Amino acid sequence: MIDAYKKYLSEILIDEVTLQERVQALGEQITRDYADLDNLILVCILKGGVMFLCDLTRHIHVPHEVDFMAVSSYGKGARTTTRNVRIDMDLTTHLTDKHVLIIEDIIDSGHTLQSVMHLLETRRPASLKLCTLLNKASRREVEIPIHYIGFEIEDKFVFGYGLDLDEKFRNLPFIGVVDTSQL
Ligand code: IMP
Ligand code: MG
Repeated sequence: MIDAYKKYLSEILIDEVTLQERVQALGEQITRDYADLDNLILVCILKGGVMFLCDLTRHIHVPHEVDFMAVSSYGKGARTTTRNVRIDMDLTTHLTDKHVLIIEDIIDSGHTLQSVMHLLETRRPASLKLCTLLNKASRREVEIPIHYIGFEIEDKFVFGYGLDLDEKFRNLPFIGVVDTSQL
C-alpha cells in the first residue's frame, strides 16, 4: 500500500536531493533580491504550490509573510484564449504596497497564472513577481513573465512534491513522470 504510486510512475524526473538543492538556491537568490525591500509576501497557489512554499520559505532569510489562494480554471483542456479562472479561496491579506511573489508548482499553458496576475495587479502591490518550481515552456499559449524558475521540463505529465495525480500523491518527495498506460 505504501508503494501505491509505483504503478503510475514511469521514471523519476527530479529526485529529492536535486529538488532540495534547487529550492535552497532559489531561496538564496530571493533573499538577495529582496534584501533591501520591506513588505515581502509569498502568495502560494493551492494546492500544488504548498510543498514548494514550505521548503522555499525556510530558505528565505528576509522577513516575509505568507498567504494562500486557491484557483481553478474553466474549460480545462480546451485550447482557447478565452479561459478564465475562478477564485475558490481568496487571500486574507491586503496586498497594497507589498512586494508580492507568487509561488506556483507548474506553468503549463500559462492561462491560470495570467488571470491570477491580472487579478492581483488590481490590488495595487508595490511589485508583483512569479516563482514557479516547474516550467513547461513548450506548452505556453499566453506570454507571462516568470522571474524565478526551478526547472525547465519537457511536455510530460508529472506528479509528486505538491503535484497531484487525480488529487493523490502530492506528498511524494520527488517529481515523477506519469506512466499514462496505467491511467
Ligand atoms: P495552466 O493554466 O495550463 O498553466 O495550468 C497550470 C496548472 O495545471 C497547474 O497549476 C497544475 O495544477 C496543472 N498542471 C499542469 N501540468 C501538470 C502536470 O504535469 N501535473 C500536474 N498538474 C499539472
Ligand atoms: Mg497549480
